[in-house]
Amino acid sequence: MIIEPKTRGFICLTAHPKGCEKNVLNQIEYIKSKPTKNGPKNVLVIGASTGFGLASRITSAYGSKAATIGVFFEKPPTEGRPASPGWYNSAAFETQAHKDGLYAKSINGDAFSHEIKAQTLNLIKKDLGKIDMLIYSLASPVRTHPDSGTRFKSVLKPIGDTFTNNTVDFHTGVVKEISIEPCSDEDIDNTVAVMGGEDWQMWIDLLMSENVLSEDFKTVAYSYIGPSLTEAVYRKGTIGRAKDHLEATAFKITDSLKAINGKGYVSVNKALVTQASSAIPVIPLYISLLYKVMKEEDIHEGCIEQIERLFNERLYAEDLQLDEAGRIRVDDWEMRDDIQAKVLELWKEATTETLPEIGDLEGYKTDFFNLFGFNVDGIDYDKDVDEMVAIPGLQ
Ligand code: NAD
Ligand code: NA
Repeated sequence: MIIEPKTRGFICLTAHPKGCEKNVLNQIEYIKSKPTKNGPKNVLVIGASTGFGLASRITSAYGSKAATIGVFFEKPPTEGRPASPGWYNSAAFETQAHKDGLYAKSINGDAFSHEIKAQTLNLIKKDLGKIDMLIYSLASPVRTHPDSGTRFKSVLKPIGDTFTNNTVDFHTGVVKEISIEPCSDEDIDNTVAVMGGEDWQMWIDLLMSENVLSEDFKTVAYSYIGPSLTEAVYRKGTIGRAKDHLEATAFKITDSLKAINGKGYVSVNKALVTQASSAIPVIPLYISLLYKVMKEEDIHEGCIEQIERLFNERLYAEDLQLDEAGRIRVDDWEMRDDIQAKVLELWKEATTETLPEIGDLEGYKTDFFNLFGFNVDGIDYDKDVDEMVAIPGLQ
């Protein structure tokens, strides 16, 4: 079929298999020339199909020839209806990995459930014996608690006061003010239940008790801080509470891994266009200004550049360069004083008229469509493609 982007609000309902494949192959190519010294060997990636999780899987496989198991929640294709992008990404990754002689298998389902955890555990036992790294990179709006069956929904709201600031609709380029009402107490608890650290801890507890974590095992989850501009709605809002919980969980995990000298870390990553971040108000305007400034300074990075630096200059390097709160920081370039000062200046000037000039709206849009395999260089979108692509290592 001919597949075209079909957008609704901040999501795209279609994905292009060839474009997704090209994105994955580009990331593989990037990592091939940047091997990780003493890198991981057997890696489980939760949230492995898109964004930072996919980049982590690629960096593990192609930076240190690691065997990878990927867990994700993606929609398979049906005749005439393309799959979700993470499906095509995983198909492309596993096809290439198998060609290159790398172990790569995956499990598609709800990572929050006992069932998917048990399935993953069995696969580790059967094929790998033990893992030495677990990457936790889930981004989900909902979580059904595996014990109680309660379905929690996360929200992106400020705590206490109404938040008012500018945002951009990146499809139309219109910059306008928006207001977001403060959350209820329940919203905080629900958001922590979805995006906090409880599920990460549950994975670790299960794998530790089943003795499938090797000596010196490491696990890392991803967090975000961001600028003062977005603080009220992000870091000091409901999602920030969840990130506080996630970050606190890293220390608890380290405690629970004492017997094997294991470590739990949080890495604070930079703001990037992903399916998760394009839904957050104010962030798209911030990102389009940030991209402009970071590209001008020649320090712009995508997911793969971020994770390559995380592995090669932090996790598997001599010095983790932890901050005062014990976190790894690969948002260090985004948060540089000179970068933030420039973004803040531009923020004051940003209007519908000025943004195309002072911001990188085009870069934002390109990245957004790239997530779904569209606007990718070298792909002929007029050509017929087979939407029925299989993931070769899918269990
Ligand atoms: P993403 O949407 O690209 O990836 C989410 C992944 O989670 C996908 O693989 C998806 O299939 C999987 N997933 C979602 N629900 C699932 C479920 N129930 N069961 C199994 N898999 C499920 O998101 P991302 O932006 O890469 O985010 C990953 C992490 O990085 C998040 O914790 C996010 O907060 C953090 N982070 C993101 C940014 C950013 O700007 N995008 C910055 C810093 C940190
Ligand atoms: Na991810």
